[in-house]
This record gives sequence, C-alpha cells and structure tokens, in this order.
Amino acid sequence: DRLFADDIEAILELKRKHNAVILAHNYQTPEIFHCVSDIRGDSLALAREAQNLEQDVIIMAGVHFMAETVKLLNPTKTVLIPDELAGCSLAEGITAENVRTLRERHPGVPVVTYVNSSAAVKAETDVCCTSGNARRVVESLGVPEVIMIPDEFLARNIERETGIKMHTWSARCEVHERFTPQEIRQYRRMHGPLHIIAHPECSPDVVAEADHAGSTASMMDYIAQHKPEKVMLITECSMSDNLAAMHPQTDFIRPCNLCPHMKRITLKNIRQALETMSTEVTIPADLQEPARRSVERMLAIK
Ligand code: 13P
Ligand code: SF4
Repeated sequence: DRLFADDIEAILELKRKHNAVILAHNYQTPEIFHCVSDIRGDSLALAREAQNLEQDVIIMAGVHFMAETVKLLNPTKTVLIPDELAGCSLAEGITAENVRTLRERHPGVPVVTYVNSSAAVKAETDVCCTSGNARRVVESLGVPEVIMIPDEFLARNIERETGIKMHTWSARCEVHERFTPQEIRQYRRMHGPLHIIAHPECSPDVVAEADHAGSTASMMDYIAQHKPEKVMLITECSMSDNLAAMHPQTDFIRPCNLCPHMKRITLKNIRQALETMSTEVTIPADLQEPARRSVERMLAIK
C-alpha cells in the first residue's frame, strides 16, 4: 500500500534523525505494530522495557496511561503520545478523591491499582498491577482482603482465582464489557473445536466460558504454545489481526470489539509527533514520586 509506504519510510527516517524509539501496544493496527514499532507487548512488557530505554525520544503507540507510565519510569526522556485524547474508560472511571474515600471506608486494607489509571490515582496506591501479574501482585501481599481498583471485572476474576476478598470500584473497559456469555456459547456451537481465550477485563461470566484467560501477552504465548487450528480471542480487534500475520496456519474467528482510544493512533499522527515533537507527556511534580513508587513496587514483584 503506497499510502502506508510513504508514512512508514518517513517515520523510519525521523526515528533515526531524532534518536527515537516507538513502543507499540498489542492493540495497535498491523501497519504500526509490524512496520514501524521497535518494541511490542502488553502493558507489563512495555513498562519493563521503558525503564531501560536509552534513546532520547520515546513514542507511545498506545493510550495515555501507558505513556504516563513510561514517563514515570524513565523521567529524563522526552515521551510523546501521537494523540493526547487516546484515553481509557478504566483510567477515566476513578479519581484520586475516590481512592481516598475507599481507604477511609476500609482502613488498613492495601490498595492495588490496575495500571489502566491516571498518575494521580497511582499516587494514592500501594502497588500497581497489570492483567499479566494481577494474581501474583495480590497474592504477594499475604492479606485476606484488598481494595482492587478501578476495574470491577478484573477484581472479581482475581477474587475468584485467589479467594482473596476484593473491595472493588465500578469502572469497566468499554471494549471488554460488551462481550456476553451467550455470544461465546453461540460461537462454540457454530465453529466446533475452538480455543477460546478471554481477556480478564471481560465479566467473570464470559471468562467462565473461555478455555484460558490472560493478558494480551499471555494470549500470544498460548497460541505459540498450542498452535490451535481455530482460535477466538475475546478482546480488541487488532490483537487477532497482529497474531494472524504471525500464525498463518491458525484460523482466527473474530467477534472482536474496537477500542476507539487505541485506534486514535495512526501512522499519520506518529509521523506528525516525530516531526513536531508533540504532544509531550508530563507528570505534575507532586505526583511523580508517589506514582513512581507504586509502579516500581509492582515491577519488583517477580
Ligand atoms: P494488556 O496489559 O493485557 O495488554 O491489556 C491492556 C489493555 O488495555 C487491555 O484492554
Ligand atoms: Fe482501556 Fe479497554 Fe481500550 Fe484497553 S481496550 S485501553 S482497557 S478502553
């Protein structure tokens, strides 16, 4: 596609010129994911990689909270997001004030916050988690109850796995909350032998219908390991597109939902970000230390 090719060539050139690196979340479209990004992964992998990057400029092809996490972990770098309106319904679903109220309601109970949250919310947090390490983080605390925010469904799924009591918040992922157990059962009936993998931001009823639940990286590992003939990923659409390019032998059944925030990032605005060095992501000075601490605590849990 010539249209893509012009932007791809320009981006590769601009990356060299500005000593820039592009991080892409697994939900980015294939032309971003496969053609211009340097590091790809789930939220946990991108956070881990962010700590050690040596380039001057880091472009986040993902959503705003991911760019904030990069800035927290590598504060001296210029971190750019190609569209600052690339948000997340989970991050927008809770405020720092809400977290303080929850703490008052449950004194002494630790707060575990999904990284899909603002720096202000992270600053009120004991330890962060991602969908890739939520169980490990919660179990590492060694306590019978936890305040787990903001994703109600992730918290309920982890409660079911660990038996640890969760005090939750009511935010949901607008992409994953739309899947229903009826829909999953119908696809199973229609397609016969089918591996179904759900993201833990889906409701517990949906997760109960799946053969496996895990982060986007865990979905990738599952497919590399099982090499299923037919698979259905209960998640964002680009995940199947990106994996289908890597596993031509696997048939991907796609009842996917689009994330409008992830889809704000395009080759065009990545190119523009590199041309104009904007929009730069910054963290208010008073939030930097406390927010960083909650992310670093998470990364220290092996
Ligand atoms: P992962 O950490 O599993 O990649 O999930 C991020 C996300 O935004 C899921 O909707
Ligand atoms: Fe947020 Fe859901 Fe989009 Fe992920 S898919 S960025 S959790 S709205």
